[in-house]
Amino acid sequence: MDIKRNILLNPGPATTSDTVKFAQVVPDICPREKEFGDVMEFVSKELTNFVGSNDKYTTILFGGSGTASVEAILSSVVDAGTIVIINNGAYGKRMCEIAEIYNLNYIEYKSSPIEEINLSELEEIIKEHNSECIKTNKPMITHVAVIHHETTTGILNDIKSIGKICEKYKIDMIVDAMSSFAGIPINMEEMNIKYLASSSNKCIQGMAGVSFVIANKKSLEKIKNIKPRNLYLNIYKQYSYFKENYQMRFTPPVQILYALKQAIIEAKEETIENRYERYKECCKILWEGLNKLNLKKIVNEKASSMLLTSIVEPQIKGYCFDDLHDYLYNKGFTIYPGKVSSENTFRVANIGQIYPENMNKFIEILEEYFTSIV
Ligand SMILES: Cc1ncc(COP(=O)(O)O)c(C=O)c1O
Repeated sequence: MDIKRNILLNPGPATTSDTVKFAQVVPDICPREKEFGDVMEFVSKELTNFVGSNDKYTTILFGGSGTASVEAILSSVVDAGTIVIINNGAYGKRMCEIAEIYNLNYIEYKSSPIEEINLSELEEIIKEHNSECIKTNKPMITHVAVIHHETTTGILNDIKSIGKICEKYKIDMIVDAMSSFAGIPINMEEMNIKYLASSSNKCIQGMAGVSFVIANKKSLEKIKNIKPRNLYLNIYKQYSYFKENYQMRFTPPVQILYALKQAIIEAKEETIENRYERYKECCKILWEGLNKLNLKKIVNEKASSMLLTSIVEPQIKGYCFDDLHDYLYNKGFTIYPGKVSSENTFRVANIGQIYPENMNKFIEILEEYFTSIV
């Protein structure tokens, strides 16, 4: 059977291979069967392998969208201490919303959505807060949470340097790597990441429906006695149950996990390093095309992830985002509206099972659209 190939240039769910799509078509199976446990064991161990060793790290799976794993971490690991949340986009802001809902002691560190995080300022905040705590007996900073690739703009945050600051102040770092995991090489140990959140439908190139946390096992043991703030999303409970029998506590998205298994096999075959190269190749074609059309990017090239580009909407008579979207959509390409408040933008992501020839075609159609309106 032929499936129409759409090129999704929205930042996930991303374009998938046909083999991943077809991997969902399997005989019905009860997810409590050992045969399905083997699928989950494979998925959990291999997801860990992309970023660390199974001796020191483990993957905890949940049914849900990406936000589930972020909420799972924040609600499960912060006890009486204080968490610093770096907010330089919509997803950093979302972490603050979660912290607010769960009544966590948190400090929002706001940073520009288009410029690198000021690391010395961040360190100063930690230092000042902690010395104040010593005097007043207020909760010290125990965690820092940061987005790796802020999908709002395409900025790539320097988690390695933030990890070093965390090491210095004995702070556990939480990283939302939703749109970078399996697209940009990550080494949890080297980067000092204690908890990482991601999902099945972005750079790993699977279907939407599985959200996962990759955690340092020693850190997990430290959270064992924190009173659960929720039932479904508690990572220690999910981890200890899974460890015994390779089952989730609640009904897993069965077919999505088969697709994820296939996506992992394909990511291993390609390797994350080569996948990143392929994505960057696509990005370069995009940037060249934008230059030719005189379209401006809001994040400078050095700070960009090269996985997503935010483009300033041109002041051209006849231009309208919805028309551009529809023009491209009818030709098989999906773009996405912008998410920053300071400027009108639209976004083009280049993750998923896409290749340089797809980006060349995209640029051709983009050019065609702009020629048609002048
Ligand atoms: C960095 C980041 N965090 C969290 C999310 C939320 O994921 P979901 O929409 O799957 O809940 C996204 C989604 O794009 C994201 O890019």
